[in-house]
Amino acid sequence: MKVFHLSVECYPVAKVGGLADVVGALPKYQTKLGVDAGVIMPWYDRPFVRDHKFSVIHEGTFYQGSELLNYSVYHEENNTLGFDLYLIKIPGKLDRQEVYCYPDEGEQFIAFQHAILHWFKQEMIIPDLVHCHDHHVGLMPFLMKYSNEYNFLADVKTVATVHNGQYQGWTHWSKAILLPGFDSWKWGLLDWDGVINPLAVLIKCCDAYTTVSEGYLEELYVEANGLQQLFYDERNKSWGIVNGIDWEIWDPQTDYTLAGNYGPANAFEGKLKNKRALAQQYKIDPDLPLLVFIGRFATEKGADLLPDIVSSLTANDPNRLSIFILGAGDPAIQSAIKALIDHGIENFDVFFGYDEKLAHWLYASADFLLMPSRVEPCGLNQLYAMKYGTLPIVHQVGGLKDTVIDLQKDGYGVGFETLDITDIRSAIGRSLQFYENKTEFEGNQHRIMNLDFSWDKSAAKYISLYNQLI
Ligand code: ADP
Ligand code: GLC
Repeated sequence: MKVFHLSVECYPVAKVGGLADVVGALPKYQTKLGVDAGVIMPWYDRPFVRDHKFSVIHEGTFYQGSELLNYSVYHEENNTLGFDLYLIKIPGKLDRQEVYCYPDEGEQFIAFQHAILHWFKQEMIIPDLVHCHDHHVGLMPFLMKYSNEYNFLADVKTVATVHNGQYQGWTHWSKAILLPGFDSWKWGLLDWDGVINPLAVLIKCCDAYTTVSEGYLEELYVEANGLQQLFYDERNKSWGIVNGIDWEIWDPQTDYTLAGNYGPANAFEGKLKNKRALAQQYKIDPDLPLLVFIGRFATEKGADLLPDIVSSLTANDPNRLSIFILGAGDPAIQSAIKALIDHGIENFDVFFGYDEKLAHWLYASADFLLMPSRVEPCGLNQLYAMKYGTLPIVHQVGGLKDTVIDLQKDGYGVGFETLDITDIRSAIGRSLQFYENKTEFEGNQHRIMNLDFSWDKSAAKYISLYNQLI
């Protein structure tokens, strides 16, 4: 079975968040299960691309509106990632450093999709299935079925995975001229509320759509930034498949980025070693329990609540725990957190920015990971935390609810039902109390490190979905 994953992120080529982790892992595990799975993504001016050997396997040109675009398809020569990796380079459009936030983003994504279609046509590539990740490649199933030039792909099955339904890629109708010519009777498939909505197009035109947890699927029927009715109407082709984690990268026993490796048997000591090393560089006390937050500074992640949470935790007793925040994003959130640092709160430190190595080190050093997300389609942080023996303290939404069962319900993590500061504080209070009982805490550490959140099961579920469609 020949499958192409289409995505704008893939770890370690270009990562902004969990989408990259999933697209960097799922095809690898599918390949191990006998599927010929490859990834097609834009070319980026980034270290992975500069440091690895690629060959140009195809070149072509097409018109985007009145602009003639040249593209090249690069193939990674050494199968470094465990699957075929293809990059589409288009000078002036897909040759940049960042993944998102360019003013012509919509045009970049249209060009990316058009180049793939053009390449497939020129080389007569007809895969069994095309797997589209998020709205950036949301027009593909429509164009494969209804574009005049590329409908030779009409019978190829398509799967859409919704990693985040909040972002939909809204595009003004004036940009329709940039799309390859299509059957104009079908324009209604492109439309949602008077604009082209690539996520809506994807859901309408794919053969099946999946969400990255079962809980999130149910939530989308109720709230999906305006698309809830669509998700509900198309529910007969929906699947909830929870993400896994790539144990070849995320395993404290082998993780080369750590100050010390450890396994379930010596987790407490191993974590302490990492925490001590961290304390040499940052303002935390290694003798106190350590609570961390890692993530994008976005309201979706509840990052706007962090200043209040930190103030309320440290107001009366700054020597009860250390706190570390790693993140970047919304400047208003960043300056509110910076104000706390300027205030000189003890045992509290922050790293503003994106640092993959530091993230690993924090999962390994921390005793608790806090996730006050408002929306969390799956969430990978809590899965990494547990693999590293860190107790997750999470808002009970989406994938967090599916993957973190509260200690009070015979589970292994700590949950809170509302985003009220009192509720969050009481969850942290419960976690600190639990920490006091060393035997039980260590027993639980052992348990969470042995939970099976591997990709094997989820990759097999996707394959069974593919088989049903084909
Ligand atoms: P999302 O994709 O919505 O941001 P996920 O929980 O699925 O959330 O994945 C987040 C991924 O990004 C994890 O691998 C996490 O470790 C990583 N990450 C987030 N922020 C940072 C940061 N500032 N530095 C390093 N890694 C980060
Ligand atoms: C999105 C979601 C996150 C999920 C990730 C990978 O970024 O916000 O919850 O884990 O995609 O599927």
